[in-house]
Amino acid sequence: MDPRYKKISDLLIDYSMGHFENRIELSEKLDETDAFISGINMLGEELKTTTISRNYFNNIFNSVSDMIFVLTDGGMIENVNRTALEKLDKKYSDLIGLPIDQLLVEGEKPLFEFIKKKLGNSNQGVEAEKKFKTSPTDYIPASCSVNFLHREVKGELRYLVTVRDLSKQKEMENLVIRTIVDTLENERIRVAKDLHDSLGQQLSAVKFYLETLINITEDKKISPILTKSGDALKAAQAELREICFDLMPMTLETYGLVESVHELCRKIGHKNLLEFIILPDKHFPLLNKQLEIAIFRIVQEFINNSIKHGRATRITLKFNFGRDKDEVKIELKDDGKGFDKNKLYSGSGTGMGLQNVRSRIRSYDGTIKINSLPGKGTEYGILIPLNKTTLQR
Ligand SMILES: Nc1ncnc2c1ncn2[C@@H]1O[C@H](COP(=O)(O)OP(=O)(O)OP(=O)(O)O)[C@@H](O)[C@H]1O
Ligand SMILES: [Mg+2]
Repeated sequence: MDPRYKKISDLLIDYSMGHFENRIELSEKLDETDAFISGINMLGEELKTTTISRNYFNNIFNSVSDMIFVLTDGGMIENVNRTALEKLDKKYSDLIGLPIDQLLVEGEKPLFEFIKKKLGNSNQGVEAEKKFKTSPTDYIPASCSVNFLHREVKGELRYLVTVRDLSKQKEMENLVIRTIVDTLENERIRVAKDLHDSLGQQLSAVKFYLETLINITEDKKISPILTKSGDALKAAQAELREICFDLMPMTLETYGLVESVHELCRKIGHKNLLEFIILPDKHFPLLNKQLEIAIFRIVQEFINNSIKHGRATRITLKFNFGRDKDEVKIELKDDGKGFDKNKLYSGSGTGMGLQNVRSRIRSYDGTIKINSLPGKGTEYGILIPLNKTTLQR
């Protein structure tokens, strides 16, 4: 047998093992077998180049810091890079064939449906923010950019989804919002305490002097003037108490959120015109002071809206827990006029109230739901996760 056949056989084994650099020298015969060998050498060259570019691609695919998913036309994961496996704490085999929507936290709107709808036939990518589950209780907030892959090959439509982890960025944003809001609230506490301690004390002293004068004076002309001064002083004291309460309810510091909401409702409520029903769970926890202030402000905004826009006559407030008891849930329901939620933020005249509420809630990783229909009243619900930063230390 021609010894070159043995060489060809060995070379093919080498290639099958990934050694594409080996070649066979042509003989002097330059016959048909040499032509065959030359073809195999070229194959080796070809394999070497494609393997280098494949490895090069794989290196890039796996070393980018974003998660990358390749989806089939049905939204199933066909390929995924190493970063995704690491961030989601999953094995490659766990993810292949899985619908991408199964990676999102419960309650998130499906991503794939959105991609299909938005991407349509255009070549411009789509962007969406989604939460990806990392464990039953944890998730990564992420921004997803999606585009077509292999568009030109008919019947082989694929989607390339690049997912950027926004945890650090969100943490930073939340910290900035919390710091600004907390600074503002601390300043309000300081002003309220100063007013209460300085002006409040002085008014009390004046009241004492006036009362002494009223008791000892026998002059019929002066006596009614002194009584009037006493009444004016009482009104001034009541006004000061209101201002201090508006700045910062002292009950919040001493008795906590639920009690200060009771106090707020007592102040606003009116026997016949506006009724408040407050239903606190008896295990409702004491929260971190800054968070209690934040929730108090949110409740205040909800109540103001119910009165100002809804003209409500009955407002029900519930202080409760979420489904798994690992979050607090505060709900407000009014019997007012209600409104069309779709018009929220679309007009130029809309206020800042609910936007401020949203950023306060977001800074604690919470969520808000608003249900309203014209003529059917309004329901607000907020959920704030309980953890070491939100519970009172
Ligand atoms: N409970 C409610 N009943 C009826 N309409 C409401 C209610 N809550 C909100 N709205 C509607 O939503 C809009 C936006 O509310 P938002 O609190 O953001 O702004 P605002 O109350 O108009 O202004 P601001 O809060 O800055 O004083 C309101 O203008 C109102 O039309
Ligand atoms: Mg408002």
